Amino acid sequence: MLPLEIVSLRVKNFRNLLEMPIEFGPKINCILGENGNGKTNILEAIHVLSTKKSFRKKTGFPQFLSVDGEEPEIIFSSLVRERGENVSYSAKLTPNSFELFQNGKPFKKRPKIPLVFINPFDASNFYSKASERRRWFDFHLGQLDKEYSASLRRYHTLLKFRNALLEDRQRYAREQLKAIDSEFVKVSQALTLSRECFLQEITPYYERIFKDIFSKNHNVSLHLETNISSGNSEKFKSLLVENSVKDFGARFTTYGPHKDDYLLLFDGLNSVEFCSLGQQKMSYLSLLFAYIELFRYKIGSFPIVLMDDVSGELDKSRWENLVQYLGRGKFQTLITTANEAFKDELEKIEGTKKIVVKSGLVKNV
Ligand SMILES: Nc1ncnc2c1ncn2[C@@H]1O[C@H](COP(=O)(O)OP(=O)(O)O)[C@@H](O)[C@H]1O
Ligand SMILES: [Mg+2]
Repeated sequence: MLPLEIVSLRVKNFRNLLEMPIEFGPKINCILGENGNGKTNILEAIHVLSTKKSFRKKTGFPQFLSVDGEEPEIIFSSLVRERGENVSYSAKLTPNSFELFQNGKPFKKRPKIPLVFINPFDASNFYSKASERRRWFDFHLGQLDKEYSASLRRYHTLLKFRNALLEDRQRYAREQLKAIDSEFVKVSQALTLSRECFLQEITPYYERIFKDIFSKNHNVSLHLETNISSGNSEKFKSLLVENSVKDFGARFTTYGPHKDDYLLLFDGLNSVEFCSLGQQKMSYLSLLFAYIELFRYKIGSFPIVLMDDVSGELDKSRWENLVQYLGRGKFQTLITTANEAFKDELEKIEGTKKIVVKSGLVKNV
């Protein structure tokens, strides 16, 4: 299948970006500029157009709107090449609305611009808490498997209801708990099975990419840490019942897939406890690229890869391998950097396009 790519973007009143077309090449795009000039804002604009949200936490319309904006309205216009055809997506954002247009006509769905956003700083969050790892896996698994997202929503509804009963502590609560627990067991097992399958599918990519880009001398692997046996519902149910005594004391559900964790092993050791920050970052980036390749396998085309400030934390030989990997990749990459040497490395790859940003002014080189 032909790859999907963003051909051009123009924004009005979005952050510090000036209203002029930004043109992208089909492979690597190196967005170069000193700090605070608007590189990340370009990636953010594409992210908002595609998902209605920023990747920056706690930001919305008030932060997006240019401080110089004369009216409270942000416009995005883009041209995307989908399966060899040009499609325009544009959007109008006001404080209370997001109107999207495909080829000039109102479009009720989400634009079909699948993205993966990569920020190496996110690795520290990912390694800091099990809940962050669950969030990462839930999100990415859900992107590839809509049934998983539906089961997850169902699970959270049940969990909320279960916790409300535990909080309530009325006599009838125990009876009601029994009534919902068979459904709780069923949904929990479906989730666990999907998680196990996802790990099985992503692991070969993860192991290979880690060796390809970062280190041939180390082995990485992934494991789901769960008490739930996806195949044995009776055992799970009896553990759930056993645990409900504890749950009534704690007033919430102490046992279930919302307590699972994902172990990233590095030469057999838990990377959360044993790895350097650099090693954690390498594992995290490998996981994201593994997801990108799995995405291509499952969905049939690659997502567009947005990479923010990736070079800072890696040593030179790792960047070189990373750049070689991107060069071999069949996906479009938009990669920001303030680092001239990293830019030089990217420019060694045939077809790399340089985009220079200065005070919101974009020069297509
Ligand atoms: N709503 C806004 N209006 C105008 N300028 C903004 C707005 N929000 C952020 N900026 C400016 O954008 C710049 C930061 O852009 P960013 O893309 O994060 O920089 P970098 O090139 O380092 O990635 C800063 O100069 C900031 O003042
Ligand atoms: Mg930036």
